[in-house]
Amino acid sequence: MTGSQSMTVPRFRGLKGKTKIAMVTAYDFPTARLVDQAGVDAILVGDSLAMVVQGHTTTLPVALEEMIYHAEMVARAVSHALIVVDLPFPTYFANPQAAIDAAARVLKRTHCHAVKLEGGSEQAPTIEALTRAGIPVMGHVGLRPQSVHQMGGYRVQRDVERLREDALTAQQAGAFSVVLECVPASAAEQLSRLLEIPTVGIGAGAGCDGQVLVLHDLLGLTGETAPRFVKAYADLAGTIRQAVQTYCEEVRTGTFPDADRSYR
Ligand code: KIV
Repeated sequence: MTGSQSMTVPRFRGLKGKTKIAMVTAYDFPTARLVDQAGVDAILVGDSLAMVVQGHTTTLPVALEEMIYHAEMVARAVSHALIVVDLPFPTYFANPQAAIDAAARVLKRTHCHAVKLEGGSEQAPTIEALTRAGIPVMGHVGLRPQSVHQMGGYRVQRDVERLREDALTAQQAGAFSVVLECVPASAAEQLSRLLEIPTVGIGAGAGCDGQVLVLHDLLGLTGETAPRFVKAYADLAGTIRQAVQTYCEEVRTGTFPDADRSYR
């Protein structure tokens, strides 16, 4: 993070046009501590944990209590970054009051700073109600993984008019930032110029005000084929496999533990 101050929602908003925003996901204490120490501006306790940590094939199964469980661990580890927690499917769909109830539970229990929800125009009343209740909201438009069945898969979203309408409506409703997921780079760049709030892209090109990646993808920890937009900055899957293989060999050959690692 820029400087040693803790990030707040107004400071995060104020980064637009000054410096690009770096955001990653984290779901537990040790990784949250490391990414905070590494200087990210914001951490997303994403509902992607349903796929990355829990092993589901979509984000739909994760429960609000499970999101809270992970967000609590993250909040304990973080001193600087802004922490945003995903509201999981379908906790905010019924009506704005349901969303306030879910988001209030998240903020009260976890001490995180903000919530994220998927949707633009259709979620405007909910974003407005949350903002009026003092709960900062990050919007999420373009590919909305919680609607994967309705959208027919994880595809690039090319309806530029709809993207514009969704992002502008989220801003008007009070969102302090908006995630643009899997949209053409040219559309994301135009939207980023049009909006007053920061855009945070994932699969949305370099023209966004910031970027977010799933930490396990960034670290090469999933060991699976990643989407085109992912850049793995390390091969932790290989490192972990190699380390554990060596450990198994040393246990089996009796070279671990050696005298230095045994008590006299
Ligand atoms: O849950 C998540 O990790 C997300 C990012 C993909 C933006 O919503």
